[in-house]
Amino acid sequence: MGEQKKIVCIGAGYVGGPTMAVIAYKNSECVVTVVDINQKRIDAWNSDKLPVYEPGLDDIVKHVRGKNLFFSTDVNKAIKENDIIFIAVNTPTKDYGVGQNMAADLQHWETIARQIRDVATSDKIIVEKSTLPVKTAEAMEIILNTGSNVHFEVMSNPEFLAEGTAVKDLLDPDRVLIGSRETESGQKAKKELIEIYKKWVPEKRIITTNTFSAELSKLVSNAFLAQRVSSINAISALCEATGADVQEVSKAVGADSRIGSKFLNASVGFGGSCFRKDILNLVYICRMNHLYEVATYFENIINMNHFQMQRFVDNVVRSMFNTVAGRKICIFGCAFKADTDDVRDSPAIPVAQTLIAEKAELVISDPKAMNNMKEVLGDPKNVDFVADPYEAAKDSHAILIITEWPVFSTLDYQKLFDVMVKPAYLFDGRNMVNRTECFDIGFNMYSIGKEALIH
Ligand code: NAD
Ligand code: UGA
Repeated sequence: MGEQKKIVCIGAGYVGGPTMAVIAYKNSECVVTVVDINQKRIDAWNSDKLPVYEPGLDDIVKHVRGKNLFFSTDVNKAIKENDIIFIAVNTPTKDYGVGQNMAADLQHWETIARQIRDVATSDKIIVEKSTLPVKTAEAMEIILNTGSNVHFEVMSNPEFLAEGTAVKDLLDPDRVLIGSRETESGQKAKKELIEIYKKWVPEKRIITTNTFSAELSKLVSNAFLAQRVSSINAISALCEATGADVQEVSKAVGADSRIGSKFLNASVGFGGSCFRKDILNLVYICRMNHLYEVATYFENIINMNHFQMQRFVDNVVRSMFNTVAGRKICIFGCAFKADTDDVRDSPAIPVAQTLIAEKAELVISDPKAMNNMKEVLGDPKNVDFVADPYEAAKDSHAILIITEWPVFSTLDYQKLFDVMVKPAYLFDGRNMVNRTECFDIGFNMYSIGKEALIH
């Protein structure tokens, strides 16, 4: 391979687009192409309105697009012309057949492996960027090496970016993980990949392992992160029952440097496209290896998350005299977290669906995610989308804060209270507001993990 590396990424989604933009930005001598079968997505990457919202992404893309970053739908051409092929296609939970609702759906992977094998005419380094079951690299190698004369070196390089902070995470990652084989060609490919990351990531933060450890570490990282959220959410229920305050508990517990303070914010539950799917995938792998107790241990992280979401919305209905039919209820935030337009697996979805089933009139307000939420809910009759929170709250009986958008903590709650029907309820699923102030304004105040303040 020559000096000028030619890199392609198959899959131009939340991971492929931002990751390759940063690689191109930091490796001006490399030519980076991102390909996808979704024409609309590629058109958006080539336009002024990128298909994903991420703070800082527009600037980076503008800086490199057309220079050393290109977006295209010509997958075959890209496979032929590039030496290093990242694969960042979606790996959702399988919704059919064997392993339904648990295993990762690897159909896109399989398709791409066959396509690469059939099209490639020179040696390639194949880099797994998607999150995959441990040992996928082995399956990939079998497919690639059946009936082809070129050499394919399969490596694992899982992505740890979080949505909303993708650019920051990519520019300053805690670690980059590279899994490769111990063979000569595996070590050579590892060096190639390290060269790319070394341009901006200190070498001590580049961790190298064998391929399977890298694949498994990604699933385990997400399971551990989700486990912390489920642990604090479980404790939030106990706090509400006992008069303890979950924020005080999490501060006291997190001050122990062995535990650490991050990811201990109680919430309506964790959402996003990955936590649930990756834990289910881990649970499935454990079961396939007859490790049933291990599987159950991790599965409970998800059970607790369901409990928390259901507990939150049940509490809304119960607190409002067990009926919300015909009453206007305002939901603040439908993105699964702040600073993203992504609503995949957002806790706002089950909350909204339960309230729709209860015949409430919903008004949803979110700075970025309303269009995506509309698509998910199918735009039913009794749901309205209103950007301005004050307008959204008008004539409503309750406000539910679901997403931790900073704007929700800086609103004028007196002004909101004034336009609402009384008694007015505030359900703070993220502990965003000053609850004593809101109670003094007149709200019946329900904060996650704290005793309710009721007039
Ligand atoms: P996504 O759905 O946003 O994007 C995947 C893209 O792959 C889609 O645009 C789709 O059209 C494309 N694709 C599917 N099959 C294709 C094919 N045969 N040829 C070309 N393109 C094809 O998914 P995402 O959120 O970017 O996630 C991708 C992977 O990265 C998943 O495995 C996910 O678990 C993992 N991951 C995601 C995040 C995140 O924050 N979203 C973070 C870390 C890891
Ligand atoms: C998560 C991981 O943080 C990333 O490292 C990983 O790469 C990614 O999954 C992935 O594999 O897709 P993401 O889901 O984008 O990233 O966002 P997080 O910041 O992890 O938040 C996940 C959910 O947990 C959100 O709904 C968030 O609001 C919730 N959360 C997070 C809490 O409820 N409390 C917390 O203290 C932290």
